[in-house]
Amino acid sequence: MASNSFCSVAARRLEGKVAIITGGATAIGECIARTFCKHGAKVIIADIQDNLGQSVCNDIGNQSAVFIHCDVTIESDIEKAVNTAISNFGKLDIMVNNAAIADPRKISIIDNDITDFERVVKVNLIGPFLGTKHAARVMIPVSQGSIITLGSVCSSVGGVASHAYTSTKHGIVGLAKNAAAELGPYGIRVNCLSPYFVETPLTVNFFKMEEDGKNGVYSNLEGVKLTEEDVADAAVYLGSDESKYFSGQNLALDGGFTTINPAFGIFSRSSK
Ligand SMILES: NC(=O)c1ccc[n+]([C@@H]2O[C@H](COP(=O)([O-])OP(=O)(O)OC[C@H]3O[C@@H](n4cnc5c(N)ncnc54)[C@H](O)[C@@H]3O)[C@@H](O)[C@H]2O)c1
Repeated sequence: MASNSFCSVAARRLEGKVAIITGGATAIGECIARTFCKHGAKVIIADIQDNLGQSVCNDIGNQSAVFIHCDVTIESDIEKAVNTAISNFGKLDIMVNNAAIADPRKISIIDNDITDFERVVKVNLIGPFLGTKHAARVMIPVSQGSIITLGSVCSSVGGVASHAYTSTKHGIVGLAKNAAAELGPYGIRVNCLSPYFVETPLTVNFFKMEEDGKNGVYSNLEGVKLTEEDVADAAVYLGSDESKYFSGQNLALDGGFTTINPAFGIFSRSSK
């Protein structure tokens, strides 16, 4: 797509806002970055995949999108990403803690390595902690901002993914609630956004799905497939002023997956 067309569409719901998207070089994060720009935001893509991140920014247009190398587990990298938003665009309105990893798929906890567990905790939990901390550093003085951390169905139910991934995705909900409690008096909103399965490098690698398998993933909503664009649209809502009274929440974008028990009940799927 031509670079200018990203920032010249109607219905710009994030006009004038500045956002950081960690893990924005590919997949869901990239889609959030592109969608934010379509809605009039300036974005900083903060990722460890330099070539990919830079080429996404070039494609969007360097007036609206800036890449910075940032490993979310390193505090000085996050600090620099936030400072780059201020130096390039004058402020930070929206922090999207999107970067996350999964550990190798090992079914038994007995086979799980502490080093793998710690690596996942560092990226998926300490990363959002640092992102929230440094976003708050620049949002508190201006008494506004929206902090969004990507959760998952693993933020509220067990048995879907690994122990490390599930633990960290539960952990970020606690972090968001606590940060919302502290930062609400400064007008800063903090929320999680928890999608169901979207086909990306993370899920394809973890679940080791063949072409057919991806379509067979259980969903309560028959005939509907969740896309990166759906997740990005929900992030636009959480980042925009439309969600001005929405804070301390975990917004589930999962077609009812985490609130419905498919195994037993009068609406069991086998009786359909
Ligand atoms: N794909 C899904 O089905 C799904 C479902 C629910 C939640 N999520 C969540 O959405 C978010 C994005 O997932 P995805 O599927 O797009 O993942 P992905 O693996 O496809 O992309 C993750 C991005 O994060 C970057 N990253 C990894 N480690 C990093 C680090 N230390 N510092 C900075 N960047 C780093 C990667 O380079 C990559 O660009 C994650 O938080 C994930 O847990 C995904």
